[in-house]
Amino acid sequence: MVTLSVIKADIGGFVGHSESHPDILDLGREEMERAKQRGLLIDCHVSHCGDDMFLIMSHERGEDSEEIHRLAWDTFQKGTELAKKLKLYGAGQDLLVDAFSGNIRGAGPGSAEMEIEERPSEPIIVFLADKTSAGAFNLPLYKMFADPFNTPGLVIAEGLHDGFAFEVQDVRDHLKIILNAPDEIYDMMIFLGAPNRYAVKRVRCRNTGEIGAVSSTDKLSLIAGRYVGKDDPTMIVRCQGAFPAVGEVLEPFTTPFIVEGWMRGSHHGPLMPVSLADAHPSRFDGPPRIVALGFQLAEGKFVGPRDMFDDPGFDHVRAKANEIGDYLRAHGPFEPHRLPLEEMEYTTMPVVAGKLASRWKSLEEEAAG
Ligand code: F6R
Ligand code: MG
Ligand code: MG
Repeated sequence: MVTLSVIKADIGGFVGHSESHPDILDLGREEMERAKQRGLLIDCHVSHCGDDMFLIMSHERGEDSEEIHRLAWDTFQKGTELAKKLKLYGAGQDLLVDAFSGNIRGAGPGSAEMEIEERPSEPIIVFLADKTSAGAFNLPLYKMFADPFNTPGLVIAEGLHDGFAFEVQDVRDHLKIILNAPDEIYDMMIFLGAPNRYAVKRVRCRNTGEIGAVSSTDKLSLIAGRYVGKDDPTMIVRCQGAFPAVGEVLEPFTTPFIVEGWMRGSHHGPLMPVSLADAHPSRFDGPPRIVALGFQLAEGKFVGPRDMFDDPGFDHVRAKANEIGDYLRAHGPFEPHRLPLEEMEYTTMPVVAGKLASRWKSLEEEAAG
């Protein structure tokens, strides 16, 4: 068995919240390499999307391994020290606790892990997103694993025909439920359609129970109880054979669907699929974007990555995302570009409401004279 662990955090932006500094990524690579040398990791790949650094690791220690989580935590801490020296923006922003207590979950960084029996050929895609939040993967996961208009394999490939089981988490009340596609898609959709509250954590093959996808569902603001930046999620998807083909896994991103995030984590914007070369949001701190890194696993080693959205086939989506971005931006501070009051990460509402409280007059009293 091999475990894939992707653990990510924003530990400082260059410039502002737009990109990761190359020295921070180099530090991440050195720390991962050292862990490989001492036998803790089989292999590793360090990458980024915007101001988030993603540690993509393979090992034999299973999910929730204290050693692996500690390695990620220590790497982010060392990266934070360097970020402070370079005076990068928001240094250490996602490290929400003072001391590591055995598991990275609840400490700020996002994580997605899966333990698998490596197949004779094991193509995987790791998605890295910035300026959006956990739940952004509900729509693409549904399309990949439950929608025959996206994934013809659900209809015409035997391995996929019996459908997939979705583990849906209620990120506010910390509950989970397993719902089966295709039988329960109408029930499932009532939850998946509200990605702010419900997020798909895992998808498994109903026949074999094998894991097909896992995403990070950590919500920073729910951990800290206040705004601390967006969750900028990650996910791992296995492809081919009993799972959707690579092209079926990428196809949902041909629609620049609307996600929460963008400027100040408080706006709706289109999710733009980009190559690594374009993984640095700047326009209005966005638009939200996603990178797809493809690997073939070979005895736990990462052969790759291939930069999957580096393809003219995604040019139309990007152009459309820009058009949608312009259209939404024209709304300025109005909903639905701006998030509803209760979902905004930044708000001056309590202060403004407090200041103006005495000036509100009752409509009933006025009518009564
Ligand atoms: C969104 C994001 C940025 C910041 C914005 C203001 O996830 O990171 O849009 O919210 O640049 O940042 P501060 O408040 O740090 O000046
Ligand atoms: Mg940041
Ligand atoms: Mg970020």
